[in-house]
Amino acid sequence: MASGTSRYLRYILFAFFGLTVIYFISSSSTQRLPSANDILNGGKTSWSQGAQSPVSGGKAPADSQVAPVVPAATSPATTPNTAASLPPATAPGERMNATFVTLARNSDIWEIARSIRQVEDRFNRKFHYDWVFLNDKPFDATFKKVTTALVSGKTHYGEIAKEHWSFPDHIDQEKARKVREDMAQRKIIYGDSISYRHMCRFESGFFFRQPLMMNYEWYWRVEPSIELFCDIDYDAFKFMADNKKKYSFVLSLYEYVETIPTLWDSTKKFIKEHPEHIAEGNSMGFLSDDGGETYNHCHMWSNFEIGNLNWLRSKAYIDYFESLDADGGFFYERWGDAPVHSIAASLLLKKEEIHFFNDIAYYHVPFTHCPTGEKTRLDLKCHCNPKDNFDWKGYSCTSRFFELNGMEKPEGYENQQD
Ligand SMILES: *[C@@H]1O[C@H](CO)[C@@H](O)[C@H](O)[C@H]1NC(C)=O
Repeated sequence: MASGTSRYLRYILFAFFGLTVIYFISSSSTQRLPSANDILNGGKTSWSQGAQSPVSGGKAPADSQVAPVVPAATSPATTPNTAASLPPATAPGERMNATFVTLARNSDIWEIARSIRQVEDRFNRKFHYDWVFLNDKPFDATFKKVTTALVSGKTHYGEIAKEHWSFPDHIDQEKARKVREDMAQRKIIYGDSISYRHMCRFESGFFFRQPLMMNYEWYWRVEPSIELFCDIDYDAFKFMADNKKKYSFVLSLYEYVETIPTLWDSTKKFIKEHPEHIAEGNSMGFLSDDGGETYNHCHMWSNFEIGNLNWLRSKAYIDYFESLDADGGFFYERWGDAPVHSIAASLLLKKEEIHFFNDIAYYHVPFTHCPTGEKTRLDLKCHCNPKDNFDWKGYSCTSRFFELNGMEKPEGYENQQD
């Protein structure tokens, strides 16, 4: 009995050993065969390095007859990346005049790399849109190298002009400093930060008029360390254009009132001075529960945005930004670009021009938008936990958006309210 088993085992071992040898021989000889791609590319791939690899080196002279006779490529002698020889997975159809845009520091490189990888895997590997990176300092070589390797479209790197990232002359430095000290004491998030304020002012009034951004009509904003949880199988830019949308969001919430105590006063002053810019059929009902007298602090979270740059470059938007900038609240308070964009979109656009992307599943610390509806999540290969979805919880303003627009809430929303 025992000897029978061990004979059996020996048998299996021999068979396994034999198969391994056969596999080894066959795989090392197929490695020497040039693919159609190699021939088309004039052998510019790393296959030609096979001749120096330890696996086949020194033996099988017969094999070398089929090896491509080309100079060694510059890629390292490691496993070749065969993805290059797969057929392109590009979605057919025209491309929009669009770009991704990211404001980042050199030190954000690994956090933005994560974001890019997710955007590429879930969307851009099929569309190859460009990506513009903006920074108040020059980007370093590592940042450019890594991001260029990750993005499937073209990458562009811009340094922000000083006047777009500094205090305007009319700001009273002493008053602004006192505000920061006071906010630091009251432990208001980023309350003592100068650079955070420059960032909010830049995103409110300048990113869309950077020289590199002038080449595009549509943008998709991406921040470091975001996540995308579902496939996006259609061109979201084209969707915006085809459906006459100008601005979009995935998460909405109430702003910290301490950061914007007088933003609504400034807005009301603008409405009075520029009634010509206020759209008929706007979304005032999203912002205010009393017809515009007071602000309910609802805003769309602007770290994700797909929008129209020509709208931001319009006289209406620029007049609004300049009126806010003159009032000084970016420095005398801590106005965020999210409420600024949201108020502008809600008042200067018709309500049909704002879109909520239920199917773009998104995370930015600490909130998640995970599509409501199991069928959607399965169809789109989502990997977010539906319990994390913020949309229908008490601190979200998305219900309000649905009600204002007479939209039916997706099936299953009642189960996600807490
Ligand atoms: C893209 O849009 C910008 C801004 O509207 C415009 O100046 C540019 O000519 C457009 N490019 C193409 C290829 O249409």
